[in-house]
Amino acid sequence: MKGLLLAGGHGTRLRPLTYTGNKHVLPIANKPMLLYGLEHLKNAGIEEVGIVLGPIREGVTEIVGDGSKFGLKVTYISQPEPKGLAHAVLISEDFMQGEPFVMYLGDNLLRQGVKDFVGVFERKRADCVVGVCPVTDVSRYGIVEFEGGRPKRLVEKPKASSSNLALVGVYVFSNSIFRAVKSIKPSWRNELEITDAIQFLLAEGKKVEVEHVKGWWKDTGKPEDLLEANQLVLADMQSDVKGELSGETSLTGNLSMGPGSKTVGTVRISGPAIVGANCVIGPDVFIGPYTSIGDGCKIRNVEMENSIVMKDCAIETGRRIVDSLIGSNSTIADGEKRMPKGYKLILGERSFVQV
Ligand code: DAU
Repeated sequence: MKGLLLAGGHGTRLRPLTYTGNKHVLPIANKPMLLYGLEHLKNAGIEEVGIVLGPIREGVTEIVGDGSKFGLKVTYISQPEPKGLAHAVLISEDFMQGEPFVMYLGDNLLRQGVKDFVGVFERKRADCVVGVCPVTDVSRYGIVEFEGGRPKRLVEKPKASSSNLALVGVYVFSNSIFRAVKSIKPSWRNELEITDAIQFLLAEGKKVEVEHVKGWWKDTGKPEDLLEANQLVLADMQSDVKGELSGETSLTGNLSMGPGSKTVGTVRISGPAIVGANCVIGPDVFIGPYTSIGDGCKIRNVEMENSIVMKDCAIETGRRIVDSLIGSNSTIADGEKRMPKGYKLILGERSFVQV
């Protein structure tokens, strides 16, 4: 069994955070998003993984390299344009060499991992296993409709459906998927859809099995999804403080703090929260639940909650920052003492500020 991790696409919905790098390296609880998928593949006993990359490679190759530090052998598969999930499969045929494989969408987080999917595939001698999870907004996902308890029809982003079961971003395929992806035509959005390829398998009488996912699942397509994924991962995290807490630090809830980090003066931390390595937090700081602070940050005189601060940021402002995504190397400074008063902003294209 091999793995296929998809990390292509333009990441347009996450701009400006994705202008200069691949969206799959954005951090969730201080860990690049795509490492969650890679670890799940490894935990399912997979040793060889193909990573599909588009033109924006920045970050991925530096973090993953040849995969050896994660106990994997990684091969990069180039997809110059995001022509669809089934297209990503199509260009991976040589890499698979006839072996079955798990395809994992690199922007998805699944608490359960992929081991159970592989178990179902082997036990039932299936041609395909898909995961499903109930959703409220069917128009954002591929939806599976059932008849007599068996999957009958797969529809990509329907306006409405008799089913509320969405495809999660994990699929197991036998090599019969290659005939399917070669037989289908591009959809209305000009993509080769994996839902159409699986529909083709059903029409050919191939065995398609469904795994109802246990625990949470999150597709991180939009900025608010990143914050929600961050909450879900932090809620499961254990305390692990490698840095130093000052005598005036009060801590409730779980905190993970990397080596070389310290709190200074009065600091209140109400976890779950994570602080990376080599950070200075304080004085006069409140870090509220579901906050992730990347390596090398300097945070003073601020209250923060439910936010992701990426690495090497400097924040000092007597205000409360909530529900925010702050890109690496950003500075938020106190403007109170300047005259005339006003907000001074240097923002990249497509930024969002609520003052
Ligand atoms: O998250 C689950 C959903 O993922 C499923 O319910 C849908 O059936 C499936 O089509 C997919 O929908 P999205 O609209 O969320 O797909 P998106 O374009 O965001 O791409 C998913 C991942 O695959 C993302 O990590 C980027 C990568 N990708 C995407 C395309 C279209 C590629 O590597 N190459 C591509 O050509």
